[in-house]
Amino acid sequence: MNYEDFFTLVKTRRSVRSFKTDPVPDDDVKKIIDAARFAPSGANSQPWEFILVKDQAVRHQIVEMVKESSQYSRKVESVREEDLMFSGLQGPVRDPGFKNAPVFIVLCGDPRTKEAYPLLTTLTRADSHFASGLASAFLYMTLAATTLGLGSQWVSATGSPLVKPFLKRLLEIPHTLDVYDMLAVGYPEKQPKERFVRDREEMFHDGRYDKAKYKSDAQIRDYIVRLRKR
Ligand SMILES: Cc1cc2nc3c(=O)[nH]c(=O)nc-3n(C[C@H](O)[C@H](O)[C@H](O)COP(=O)(O)O)c2cc1C
Repeated sequence: MNYEDFFTLVKTRRSVRSFKTDPVPDDDVKKIIDAARFAPSGANSQPWEFILVKDQAVRHQIVEMVKESSQYSRKVESVREEDLMFSGLQGPVRDPGFKNAPVFIVLCGDPRTKEAYPLLTTLTRADSHFASGLASAFLYMTLAATTLGLGSQWVSATGSPLVKPFLKRLLEIPHTLDVYDMLAVGYPEKQPKERFVRDREEMFHDGRYDKAKYKSDAQIRDYIVRLRKR
């Protein structure tokens, strides 16, 4: 393995939001989950559980749940200052990009594993440690999917309180477990267009924080407004 190959993988991984309906081989799904098993987690607690959803009727129900929650998200977005509004949350609710993806992987975490951390962490930072472990596993899945020529979409609406209870019931997920996010996987129908990535020098601080690089509130706001327009 070398850095160039790794960097190519990192740059090739993109959020795909338009999928072919072609099935994904079961072996590839296993490979994706196998990679995630090796992700770092606080105290090696490995809090994850992976629920594979291939059944079309069940996937359809999940798509509908996400669409429904998106209605409320749009409503909330509408009270925001106009230049900060999220463009994807304007106009009528559309079918989500992941609608045709043949494989959904719902990543759940078992919060009881927070007891594995040192007590100080368990008492003070358990939630962020828990989420970081799950995010690591999630990222590993996206990278593994990329090496297999598959696209993936990170669907965070499934973890929203508007979706979570219904998803738990649909997939018979015990109440003690937490739904993190869902990864939709399939062959890309359209390649995503190039996206903006911040320059290294702008974020790199050698030895100590370079105050010249500190952004004012107005600069951050302007950054977000420009981000919206990209
Ligand atoms: C915590 C988190 C939540 C995200 N939720 C969604 C989502 O619900 N829907 C979606 O299409 N993309 C989602 N994304 C993907 C980001 O929009 C995407 O990573 C970002 O725009 C950069 O594009 P890229 O992944 O193609 O590099 C999420 C990413 C993260 C890290």
